[in-house]
Amino acid sequence: MSRRSIIAGTGSALPPRRVTNAELAAQVDTSDEWIVERTGIRARHIAAPGETTATLAAEAARKALAAANVAPDAIGLIVLATATPDQTFPASATLVQTALGIRDCIAFDVAAVCTGFLYALSVADNMLKGGMADHALVIGAETFSRILDWEDRATCVLFGDGAGAVVLKAVETDGAVGGVAVNSDRGILASRLHADGRHNELLYVDGGPSTTGTVGKLRMKGKEVFRHAVVNLADVLNETLAAAGHEAAEIDWVVPHQANKRILDATAKKLGLDPAKVIVTVDQHANTSAASVPLALDTAVRDGRIKPGDLIVLEAMGGGFTWGAAVLRY
Ligand code: UT7
Repeated sequence: MSRRSIIAGTGSALPPRRVTNAELAAQVDTSDEWIVERTGIRARHIAAPGETTATLAAEAARKALAAANVAPDAIGLIVLATATPDQTFPASATLVQTALGIRDCIAFDVAAVCTGFLYALSVADNMLKGGMADHALVIGAETFSRILDWEDRATCVLFGDGAGAVVLKAVETDGAVGGVAVNSDRGILASRLHADGRHNELLYVDGGPSTTGTVGKLRMKGKEVFRHAVVNLADVLNETLAAAGHEAAEIDWVVPHQANKRILDATAKKLGLDPAKVIVTVDQHANTSAASVPLALDTAVRDGRIKPGDLIVLEAMGGGFTWGAAVLRY
């Protein structure tokens, strides 16, 4: 008997405060035209005082649990992807655990910046397959507004805050577990992860507990990140599809990291994918780093585009560089 992880439910959370490009143009030397043309972004949500990575994560997690019809106490594992934790330690995953009233489970954070959700999903999937737990919460949550240099127009217009979560449930691939009958190939079929630490200076935060003793601000050489992103994403998508035994033509939906509409278009073109199959939320959420993939996934599940049985590809690339993809039957 072997185990596989299925996505049993999704959820997301956004701070109520929505900031348009026009509002930003009143503060820094930019324009709605430049931001829309260069990135596709029209608005982003920004956390208010008291709204944190952990509070957004807990809200997304509650919605995912409700959608999955899974009680918090059934959760044996919480993996939270974030580059903006509430505190240097303890892990924000333990704050989420407490907020949900879960008395005992495994809980830790994963730091892979914009690829964080793909890393967290793969770690949780493998821990479920290995029998460490039967149900996991996998969350991507960020408050990048707190690490932006609001005087740097080249970066401050690009990011937003938010959270997305999924409940993963372990099922036996040749039977049923917990009353769940398993479809032929439902669940996470393959995932692939990469990192190349040589590119640190292209996308990083200029502070940290062990260097400056401060939190620091995000710094990015956008044009060079863009160039690497298109190549790495196309490569890892092909690699992961091959590992799952599927072809690009079979994909129902691509749920990409939402950094820039032009990256989404260029990657789809490189793979010969129909742009109509790419879920786009960057226009409304901007780049929410580790939250962007689960936020986009939840958006498309709730608006009815993603349906049970669809073949889905998740992909992301970000600071490190890190990049990765997952292929799953929803
Ligand atoms: O999530 C992690 C991964 N991150 C990414 O994937 C981000 C990848 N990079 C990008 O999305 C794009 O490179 C950006 C959106 C960041 C920038 O677009 P670009 O087409 O590469 O523009 P650029 O950086 O080459 O800047 C072009 C011009 C510059 O002016 P000059 O030097 O040509 O006079 C910038 O100073 O646009 C100027 N500029 C702006 N103008 C108005 C830069 N930011 C702004 C701004 N408003 N906010």
